[in-house]
Amino acid sequence: MKGRLICIVSLCAMMFSTVAFAADDAGLFLQKCGSCHKKGGQAAPVNPADKAGLVWEKYFTRDRHPVDLSVSINEDEMGTIVEYLKDHAADSDQPESATMPK
Ligand code: HEC
Repeated sequence: MKGRLICIVSLCAMMFSTVAFAADDAGLFLQKCGSCHKKGGQAAPVNPADKAGLVWEKYFTRDRHPVDLSVSINEDEMGTIVEYLKDHAADSDQPESATMPK
Protein backbone atom coordinates (compact mmCIF):
# COMPACT_ATOMS: atom_id res chain seq x y z
CA MET A 1 0.00 0.00 0.00
CA LYS A 2 2.77 2.39 0.97
CA GLY A 3 4.74 1.54 -2.15
CA ARG A 4 1.74 2.24 -4.28
CA LEU A 5 1.24 5.65 -2.72
CA ILE A 6 4.86 6.62 -3.34
CA CYS A 7 4.41 5.48 -6.90
CA ILE A 8 1.36 7.68 -7.39
CA VAL A 9 3.05 10.67 -5.76
CA SER A 10 6.15 10.41 -7.94
CA LEU A 11 4.02 9.94 -11.04
CA CYS A 12 2.17 13.16 -10.21
CA ALA A 13 5.46 14.97 -9.63
CA MET A 14 6.73 13.78 -12.97
CA MET A 15 3.63 14.89 -14.82
CA PHE A 16 3.67 18.24 -13.12
CA SER A 17 7.32 18.93 -13.88
CA THR A 18 6.91 18.19 -17.61
CA VAL A 19 3.91 20.50 -17.81
CA ALA A 20 5.75 23.25 -15.93
CA PHE A 21 8.80 22.79 -18.15
CA ALA A 22 6.82 23.11 -21.37
CA ALA A 23 5.07 26.22 -20.09
CA ASP A 24 8.44 27.75 -19.19
CA ASP A 25 9.71 27.32 -22.74
CA ALA A 26 6.72 29.08 -24.22
CA GLY A 27 7.14 31.71 -21.51
CA LEU A 28 10.71 32.45 -22.51
CA PHE A 29 9.74 32.68 -26.18
CA LEU A 30 6.84 34.99 -25.41
CA GLN A 31 8.92 37.13 -23.08
CA LYS A 32 12.12 37.40 -25.15
CA CYS A 33 10.82 37.29 -28.73
CA GLY A 34 7.52 38.87 -27.77
CA SER A 35 9.22 42.03 -26.54
CA CYS A 36 9.40 43.04 -30.22
CA HIS A 37 7.17 40.50 -31.97
CA LYS A 38 3.77 41.33 -30.56
CA LYS A 39 0.65 42.90 -31.87
CA GLY A 40 1.40 46.58 -32.25
CA GLY A 41 5.11 45.98 -31.51
CA GLN A 42 8.05 46.91 -33.74
CA ALA A 43 7.92 43.52 -35.54
CA ALA A 44 5.08 41.26 -36.69
CA PRO A 45 4.09 38.37 -34.37
CA VAL A 46 5.95 35.10 -35.02
CA ASN A 47 4.91 31.57 -34.03
CA PRO A 48 6.72 28.22 -33.97
CA ALA A 49 4.47 26.85 -36.74
CA ASP A 50 5.56 29.63 -39.12
CA LYS A 51 8.62 27.62 -40.13
CA ALA A 52 9.86 24.04 -40.35
CA GLY A 53 12.13 22.69 -37.60
CA LEU A 54 15.24 22.69 -39.78
CA VAL A 55 14.67 26.30 -40.75
CA TRP A 56 14.44 27.36 -37.10
CA GLU A 57 17.52 25.38 -36.24
CA LYS A 58 19.60 27.33 -38.74
CA TYR A 59 17.81 30.65 -38.54
CA PHE A 60 19.79 32.17 -35.69
CA THR A 61 23.09 30.33 -36.11
CA ARG A 62 23.27 31.63 -39.68
CA ASP A 63 22.44 35.17 -38.65
CA ARG A 64 19.23 35.31 -40.66
CA HIS A 65 17.50 37.44 -38.05
CA PRO A 66 17.55 41.09 -39.17
CA VAL A 67 18.30 42.38 -35.65
CA ASP A 68 21.24 41.35 -33.43
CA LEU A 69 19.69 39.56 -30.45
CA SER A 70 22.84 38.70 -28.53
CA VAL A 71 22.38 41.75 -26.31
CA SER A 72 18.96 40.72 -25.01
CA ILE A 73 19.03 36.90 -25.32
CA ASN A 74 21.99 34.85 -24.08
CA GLU A 75 23.14 31.57 -25.63
CA ASP A 76 21.38 29.38 -23.03
CA GLU A 77 18.09 31.17 -23.46
CA MET A 78 18.39 31.04 -27.24
CA GLY A 79 19.03 27.29 -27.03
CA THR A 80 15.86 26.82 -24.97
CA ILE A 81 13.83 28.98 -27.34
CA VAL A 82 15.09 27.21 -30.46
CA GLU A 83 14.26 23.82 -28.86
CA TYR A 84 10.76 25.08 -28.19
CA LEU A 85 10.40 26.42 -31.75
CA LYS A 86 11.57 23.10 -33.20
CA ASP A 87 9.25 21.09 -30.91
CA HIS A 88 6.29 23.03 -32.27
CA ALA A 89 7.47 23.85 -35.79
CA ALA A 90 5.26 23.45 -38.87
CA ASP A 91 6.51 19.90 -39.52
CA SER A 92 6.49 18.80 -35.86
CA ASP A 93 4.00 16.50 -34.13
CA GLN A 94 2.41 19.42 -32.33
CA PRO A 95 2.63 22.58 -34.44
CA GLU A 96 1.78 25.63 -32.39
CA SER A 97 0.54 28.73 -34.10
CA ALA A 98 -1.36 30.63 -31.46
CA THR A 99 1.30 31.31 -28.80
CA MET A 100 1.74 34.83 -30.05
CA PRO A 101 -1.62 36.32 -30.98
CA LYS A 102 -1.54 37.84 -34.44
C1 HEC B 1 14.88 43.74 -30.55
C2 HEC B 1 13.60 43.37 -31.15
C3 HEC B 1 13.45 41.91 -31.61
C4 HEC B 1 13.55 40.77 -30.84
C5 HEC B 1 13.86 40.67 -29.35
C6 HEC B 1 13.28 39.66 -31.73
N1 HEC B 1 13.03 40.11 -33.00
FE1 HEC B 1 12.62 38.95 -34.63
N2 HEC B 1 12.56 40.64 -35.81
C7 HEC B 1 12.70 41.94 -35.35
C8 HEC B 1 12.56 42.84 -36.49
C9 HEC B 1 12.64 44.38 -36.40
C10 HEC B 1 12.33 42.04 -37.61
C11 HEC B 1 12.10 42.51 -39.07
C12 HEC B 1 10.73 43.11 -39.24
C13 HEC B 1 9.62 42.08 -39.29
O1 HEC B 1 9.82 40.99 -39.85
O2 HEC B 1 8.50 42.36 -38.79
C14 HEC B 1 12.35 40.66 -37.16
C15 HEC B 1 12.14 39.56 -37.99
C16 HEC B 1 12.00 38.25 -37.55
C17 HEC B 1 11.67 37.14 -38.39
C18 HEC B 1 11.47 37.23 -39.89
C19 HEC B 1 10.04 37.39 -40.21
C20 HEC B 1 9.54 36.16 -40.93
O3 HEC B 1 8.33 35.89 -40.83
O4 HEC B 1 10.32 35.46 -41.59
C21 HEC B 1 11.60 36.04 -37.60
C22 HEC B 1 11.26 34.61 -38.02
C23 HEC B 1 11.89 36.45 -36.24
N3 HEC B 1 12.14 37.81 -36.26
C24 HEC B 1 11.90 35.62 -35.14
C25 HEC B 1 12.27 36.02 -33.85
C26 HEC B 1 12.39 35.12 -32.72
C27 HEC B 1 12.10 33.63 -32.74
C28 HEC B 1 12.82 35.87 -31.67
C29 HEC B 1 13.18 35.38 -30.28
C30 HEC B 1 14.31 34.46 -30.23
C31 HEC B 1 12.93 37.25 -32.12
N4 HEC B 1 12.61 37.29 -33.46
C32 HEC B 1 13.28 38.32 -31.34
C33 HEC B 1 12.92 42.33 -34.04
C34 HEC B 1 13.12 41.50 -32.97
